[in-house]
Amino acid sequence: MVVSERSFFEDEFHEACELARNMIKEMEYPVIITHHDADGISASGVLMSFFKKEPIKIVVLSGFDPVRAMKISKLRAENIVFLDLGSGQVNTIKRYLSGAQKIVILDHHKPEIAEFRPDFPRKTEIVQVNAHLFGLDGSKEISGAGVAYAVTKLRPELALVGAIGDMQFRYHEKGRLVGYNYTHILPNSAVEERLDITLYGRETRPIYVTLGYCTEPFLPGLTGDKEACLNFLKSLRIPLKDEYGGWKTIADLAPEEKTKLVDGLVKLLIRNGVPLKKYKSLVGFVYRLPNEKPFLRDLREYSTMLNACGRLKRYEVGLKVVQYDKNVYDREKAIREAAGVLVKYKKMLAEGIKALNDVKKGGLIESLPNITATYVKDVINDRIVGVVLGMALGGRIIDFKKPALIAADMTEQEGMVKISARALKEHIKRGVNLREALVKAKNELKLEKSEAGGHDIAAGAIIPKEKLREYIKHVDEKIGEQIMWRA
Ligand code: C5P
Ligand code: C5P
Ligand code: ZN
Repeated sequence: MVVSERSFFEDEFHEACELARNMIKEMEYPVIITHHDADGISASGVLMSFFKKEPIKIVVLSGFDPVRAMKISKLRAENIVFLDLGSGQVNTIKRYLSGAQKIVILDHHKPEIAEFRPDFPRKTEIVQVNAHLFGLDGSKEISGAGVAYAVTKLRPELALVGAIGDMQFRYHEKGRLVGYNYTHILPNSAVEERLDITLYGRETRPIYVTLGYCTEPFLPGLTGDKEACLNFLKSLRIPLKDEYGGWKTIADLAPEEKTKLVDGLVKLLIRNGVPLKKYKSLVGFVYRLPNEKPFLRDLREYSTMLNACGRLKRYEVGLKVVQYDKNVYDREKAIREAAGVLVKYKKMLAEGIKALNDVKKGGLIESLPNITATYVKDVINDRIVGVVLGMALGGRIIDFKKPALIAADMTEQEGMVKISARALKEHIKRGVNLREALVKAKNELKLEKSEAGGHDIAAGAIIPKEKLREYIKHVDEKIGEQIMWRA
């Protein structure tokens, strides 16, 4: 199978991985700096397995910017490993952390400096293993945890949890992982891939609850009405409970029962005039770890749980969940705790969506020529604002004809706003590249203390609040130029 349309320099990539592995192996008292999402926490799990006995310090961040860099410089760490971030901030690292002896960056975001060994003051030995430097597309073919796996050859399952957390399955029309994820990681992992019903909660929720919560697609008459879901399932003669009286999940159903369920749902959608495009994702590729605890068996649920821990700042819980070599009792306890964190996270997301709907009703979603932009002040927490925007695009709360940008006040940095931007595949085909637009706008406005980065389809930035209007205008212009050049 072809890894990508461009050529993948496999030998060079693996040589770079080996070099980084040797460098990491020699590190004493390493400090790991990682991203707070599922990919970053998975990547930390990979590194924790690698370091096993070393005392290591893990710093989990929602982003890396000059303020955080300055704080980290106070740790006076000699050995630093950046995971799932760092490549977009090499200049910041250079400015604040060149006191370190060894720095290794393992990342999949488009690099600011496209070199394996970026130029640094002589004392510091620095390498960055970044997917993009070797012809891999870091947005879709490998995650941050995937790069950590390529370097350590450990924990391929976590590498895939990272990829699923970063939505790398979304590029294939049936939700299949592609690129390095598919060719090099999946075959070496215990993860099973199969075509199945994709509905979220397929391993953990009673079937009627799964249907009741389903918004992608919206199930007319069922979404939001559990009683109706129960009646619907009864009318299809799908068994609701197992022989012990416990609720069955979708994963528990026999193949012919799954077929009955899909048939029933498709008929319901057709009856309600829902176009095929909206529900063909009902059946797609699912990824599962058959021997994991139910909460973690489906990789989408696993990654959501890690996201919840990261974004609600319960890092210690997330980090225990990804440590297989941890005391079994401890890990099980952590998984139970994580389940509680997940409930809170879901509640926050639901509140976020509600808040966004209110903003919409108030007419505060601004429609510019090439993007829509929303400033939610402190109504939505800056750590979840990107996830809320992604859901809003999926749920069509925000106009999806144009890429969308959302800004929220940062809770931890007075006077700064967190920006998240999301586009659809169709926008990318027309030339949109959110990362480029956000970075260029930042540079044009000479926002020195700001940061911007990400991928073509999803990007983010942290900028001063007083520059927000001007910044949005610049981003809109950049997107306009991208579409014009492509047209
Ligand atoms: O920081 P990082 O690269 O790990 O995160 C990627 C982000 O891009 C995630 O928030 C993910 O939800 C988003 N994404 C998306 N749509 C895609 C691919 C990624 O919203 N098709
Ligand atoms: O924070 P959010 O989920 O919106 O981020 C979308 C993408 O942009 C992620 O891949 C994230 O790592 C990246 N990002 C970045 N620099 C920032 C903010 C976000 O590279 N300052
Ligand atoms: Zn990532």
